[in-house]
Amino acid sequence: EKVVLAFSGGLDTSVCVKLLQEKYNMEVVTACVDVGQPEDEIERPAQVANNIGVKKHYTIDAKHEFAEEFIFRAIKANAMYEGYPLSTSLARPLIAMKIVELAKKEQADAIAHGCTGKGNDQFRFETTIRSSSVCDIIAPVRDLNLTRTEEMDYAVKNDIPVPSDKLYSIDENLWGRSIEGDILEDPMVETPEEAFEWTQSTENAPDEPQKLTVTFEEGVPVAIDGEMMNALEIIQEANRIAGLHGIGRVDIIEDRIIGLKSRENYETPGAELLITAHKALEQLTLTREELKFGETVTQAYSELVYNGLWHEPLREDLDCIIDNMQLRVSGDVILKLHKGSIRILARESPYSLYSEEAVSFEDKEMDQREIAGMVKNYGLQAACYQKVCKNE
Ligand code: ARG
Ligand code: SIN
Repeated sequence: EKVVLAFSGGLDTSVCVKLLQEKYNMEVVTACVDVGQPEDEIERPAQVANNIGVKKHYTIDAKHEFAEEFIFRAIKANAMYEGYPLSTSLARPLIAMKIVELAKKEQADAIAHGCTGKGNDQFRFETTIRSSSVCDIIAPVRDLNLTRTEEMDYAVKNDIPVPSDKLYSIDENLWGRSIEGDILEDPMVETPEEAFEWTQSTENAPDEPQKLTVTFEEGVPVAIDGEMMNALEIIQEANRIAGLHGIGRVDIIEDRIIGLKSRENYETPGAELLITAHKALEQLTLTREELKFGETVTQAYSELVYNGLWHEPLREDLDCIIDNMQLRVSGDVILKLHKGSIRILARESPYSLYSEEAVSFEDKEMDQREIAGMVKNYGLQAACYQKVCKNE
């Protein structure tokens, strides 16, 4: 029996390799999907796999696809769940799709993942796998109800290298870095500075503010300070600049799918920058009705993504609405980044609905007297209510 394991080289998935070989008697093929995590997190899994006796390891490059097909959709949707820009959640379906493809190629009988039974990732992996594969799914950590300490003990007994600097459970991809577990499980413990890698502290961020211009076309960023970039490059650059200025640290109590509240730390500098800029441009180009409905769309979209329902048809339906609305979200936004804060300084668009002439108090074109009747009856229902129910 052959199994393909989604492999990061961390504690959970390393333990899974040995468990699958020994307790499940399976031939293990590992695969690391590149969704834009730092370079060494792509190379490390290959080495770890080799060290623990895996015969076949794959590295699958999906970073452009992740940027274009997933992150760009998230920007257009302003996708955000309880203040979290959905970095891990967005990547899971793509990782699962790549693993399914590989399992077909390898003619594997099963697909395995290292998720626990307490988290969200199990849902995201399995919904995707089940919608495109008939393989069995094995989740050894969940199956055996293992704690992290039990995993550590098992690792030590089986000569599985456990990186000592990896105190927390970290997940990284192009859209962000999540940090959880260990001392952070106590919500009264302040996250130590060493936990952060992508963002400067406000104290260490440059004293000089930085002004920059982000250009959007049809709802997605295409240039920073006039320099055109592809999806992957622009997100990397947004991460770099915003991270330098201490932007994008998120520390929240988050409601997981199964209902557990968990304390989560994220570093999502690029997401913070690009979504803030994107919203500023929407204010200029979309109507009041579109903006209001847009919030409903954002909410629904974000919940689907968080809950692992990327393959739910509603997500595609929402993308149709979003794509159509975003046709006019083109133009420039000028922002200022300074010690953890982002301020919008200016914006312009060929599709701007803003009329300087009309709104100006110097204008006479729009006759003020015509508005009087509209104002007079504006609070009709409130007036009726006050008269009928409140007056003596
Ligand atoms: N709570 C976040 C989410 O559900 C982060 C999950 C992190 N996953 C991990 N395997 N470390 O998206
Ligand atoms: C896990 O429980 O395996 C990681 C965290 C999560 O899935 O939310």
